[in-house]
Amino acid sequence: MKVVLLGPNGQLGVDIRCCHEQSGEPFELLSLGRDVLDVASPDGVERQFKDLDFDALINCTGYHRTDEVEDNAAVAVAVNAHAVQRLAEVCERRRARFVHVSTDYVFGGDAGRTDPLTEADPVAPVNVYGASKALGETLANLALDDLVIVRVASLFGVAGASGKGGNFVETMIRLGRETGALQVVDDQVMSPTATADVARVVLRILVEDCAPGLYHVVNDGAASWFDFAREIIARARIDATVTPCSSEDFPTRAARPRYSVLDNTKTSMALGPLPPWQAALDDYLRARGHVH
Ligand SMILES: NC(=O)c1ccc[n+]([C@@H]2O[C@H](COP(=O)([O-])OP(=O)(O)OC[C@H]3O[C@@H](n4cnc5c(N)ncnc54)[C@H](OP(=O)(O)O)[C@@H]3O)[C@@H](O)[C@H]2O)c1
Repeated sequence: MKVVLLGPNGQLGVDIRCCHEQSGEPFELLSLGRDVLDVASPDGVERQFKDLDFDALINCTGYHRTDEVEDNAAVAVAVNAHAVQRLAEVCERRRARFVHVSTDYVFGGDAGRTDPLTEADPVAPVNVYGASKALGETLANLALDDLVIVRVASLFGVAGASGKGGNFVETMIRLGRETGALQVVDDQVMSPTATADVARVVLRILVEDCAPGLYHVVNDGAASWFDFAREIIARARIDATVTPCSSEDFPTRAARPRYSVLDNTKTSMALGPLPPWQAALDDYLRARGHVH
């Protein structure tokens, strides 16, 4: 089996490469970075895949600077939707499996929601980023049958989110050390998720040839950003206070979902359980050398 990986230098892409190397799974992984292929270029995609033989394509690319995207909808739609459609069409022609990475931010519009969102729930984005990713999902679905959409959320991985300049864990640790006092929003609840765990599931999807469809691939449990920050500071043994505040205290350009916790039952049943986010956080802190 030959698998193409797009976005190999991003936070998730790096862990998929590491996980593949460590697993010893007998398939070839071909990484195509942005320097080789700008997915938003229609000609580039056609040229790159014209003579390339492959069995599966994993798309970890994304334009996800949520606030910046609000004023750059055209770029977001180009990268997160039209490029996804084009890649799906390429896979359909090749009879290859397409594994596309999407987001919990396709949800959020159901204001009263308090129970985890399943794959059967309708999308309801509250910002341009979420809308562009939801459109990408729809266009890919229209283009091919052998499609696996992996919805992930609030990622932390050793490579850091290059697109965002670090990830939330690193930001909290840095600010905690610098200021000794953190204020973090307590009214946005989500599923903190380690890219290392997502990478393992993505590999299982390929190796076990699981049924096509939507999969919510997140660590077990839920947390507000305040809960998450408090655990980071406590587990990394940083001498800092963490105080809850509301989204109104930190206005952002883009609206954020108040509740976007994903239910991972379908994924766990098909591909094995995902660890709780607290255990994933401990692994991450150890891997980064924040704790020993
Ligand atoms: N980070 C999160 O919290 C989060 C949450 C939910 C969903 N997601 C989704 O998960 C996926 C992976 O996220 P991540 O955290 O790994 O992001 P990341 O670290 O920013 O990686 C994204 C990768 O996409 C590449 N890329 C962006 N635009 C491209 C283009 N036009 N052509 C080719 N490559 C391009 C970037 O290349 P460069 O390295 O050159 O910038 C980067 O390597 C994305 O689809 C994202 O929407 C992320």
